[in-house]
Formats: sequence, structure tokens, C-alpha cells
Amino acid sequence: MKHIIITGASRGFGASIAYASAESGTRLHLVARSDMAELKSKLEQKGAEVKTYTADLSKTENSEAWFSEVAENIERESAEAVILYNNAGMLHPIGPIGKYSASDYRKNLEINFVAALMAGHLFVQSFGDYPCIKRVINISSGAARNPYHGWSHYCSTKAGLDMFTRCLSLEQKGQAYPVEALSFSPGPIDTGMQDEIREMSKEDFANVDKFISLKQSGNLGDPDETAGVLRNLVWQKDFPDGQILDIMDL
Ligand SMILES: NC(=O)c1ccc[n+]([C@@H]2O[C@H](COP(=O)([O-])OP(=O)(O)OC[C@H]3O[C@@H](n4cnc5c(N)ncnc54)[C@H](OP(=O)(O)O)[C@@H]3O)[C@@H](O)[C@H]2O)c1
Repeated sequence: MKHIIITGASRGFGASIAYASAESGTRLHLVARSDMAELKSKLEQKGAEVKTYTADLSKTENSEAWFSEVAENIERESAEAVILYNNAGMLHPIGPIGKYSASDYRKNLEINFVAALMAGHLFVQSFGDYPCIKRVINISSGAARNPYHGWSHYCSTKAGLDMFTRCLSLEQKGQAYPVEALSFSPGPIDTGMQDEIREMSKEDFANVDKFISLKQSGNLGDPDETAGVLRNLVWQKDFPDGQILDIMDL
């Protein structure tokens, strides 16, 4: 059985990853705050087994609770592969440093960075000695490498996530059953997050016009197609362990 854990699976890119991964012999473990009953039944029609977990990932003090629920549904003896997609993320609050409340900024750090690192840590602790393929895929962004005016916290968390990918891969090389890691930037894709960007004021996000014209000119990526590209990368024989890849470079 291939086990695929996806955070932020309820919509957007996470749901696309779930569709791209759904097939018989696969058990999908979907984590989000929203109800995923409809998504679950569509994925089951593709032959996958599906388990859903309700968790607010910004409450990182609860990381062990949701992760152990998932781990209980992964049997060591029959696990052929265990893959974690750290996909859940948010942009809010967007605006110059110092403008919004510290608690809003803190939530951004918790969901984009702390939750993903905790999941990576718990993944190694729970499955480190499983004799099967084990991969952690961190969903990054071009914002990890380029500072965007108004996106300080989002840019910083994604840059930190990329470093975690490199550290995890470095530490695991040479282990009997290493956990491999990859950071993947999907590029601008047509999800709710892009709807949110186009609603931003120029004061909060100086480059908003560029993103409005990306949509108008039909230049936003298709999340399902991008998820298909990522799926192929994840299962390729020479897995790009420790790399920071952008869809634009593939
Ligand atoms: N869209 C783009 O152009 C783009 C570009 C580069 C990178 N990315 C990255 O791609 C990933 C997916 O983004 P998207 O565009 O699909 O965003 P989206 O459409 O806004 O979806 C976000 C997902 O994250 C989940 N989520 C948000 N806050 C959560 C919380 N507190 N607890 C649990 N789940 C939470 C949401 O589920 P619930 O609301 O149900 O909890 C939802 O499933 C993110 O990491 C993002 O940074 C996106």
C-alpha cells in the first residue's frame, strides 16, 4: 500500500495532488479544517482508499495529536511507500512589516513554517525505520527566493521551508532507510490563493497589477496539470532528493 499524506487537501493545489495520486493500492490521508466528504467520494471512485482528518494546522501545539491519528492508519508491514506533502499554506496578512497585528503574523508563521517542520519531524520519528520509500515534499514558492513588497512573512517561511528540505536530506543520507525530501514551487496556479492576491490593495501589495494581468491573459497554471508533473517527479526512479525545484525549470 502506498500512503500519501496531504495537508491542506480540501481545495486548491492540495485537492489536485489528491486527484493526481488517487488510484487503487493507494491510501490517501487528507488533512484540513473543512469537510472533505465530497472530495473523498470522488477519490474513492478512482480506486483509492481515503481517510480524512480535521485539524487546524495553525495550532501547532496539536501537531502530535493529528499526526499520530494519521500514523495509526499506516501499517508498517504492508507500507510500500509513505509520502508527506506539506502543502497547507496561507498568504494573509499581506502588507508592510509592522502594519497588522502580531497575532495575525504569528498565525502565518505557524501554518506555513512551524506546522510543516513539526510534520517533517514527526514523519521521521514515526516512519524513519520503515523499510520502504519515504519522501517529504514541501510546497514552496518563488517567494522563497525573491522578496515581494508586502509578503515578508510568506517569503520568509517559504525560504525557511527550503532550508528544512536541505537539512532533512543531508541528515538522512547514509541512513539504512533514508527519508528523502524535495521542495517544489508550483508557480502561479489558478486557486483560491490567487483570487485572494487579486483582491489586495496596492498599498499592501505593490505588484498586484502583475497578478491581475496573469489571470486576464490566461497565464495562471492549471493546478491539476501542475500536480500531475509533481506526481511524476515524486515517483521517478532518480528522485531529486534535497533539491529545490520550480515548475518553471522543468
Ligand atoms: N496558488 C499559487 O499560485 C501558489 C503559488 C506558489 C505556491 N503555492 C503554495 O501552494 C500551496 C497550496 O496553495 P493553494 O493555492 O492551493 O491555496 P488555497 O487554495 O488557499 O488552499 C489552501 C489549503 O490550505 C488549507 N489550510 C489553510 N489554512 C489551514 C489551517 N489553518 N489548517 C489546516 N489547513 C489549512 C486549506 O484548507 P481548509 O481551509 O479547509 O483548512 C486549503 O486546503 C501553499 O503552500 C501555497 O503557498 C501556491
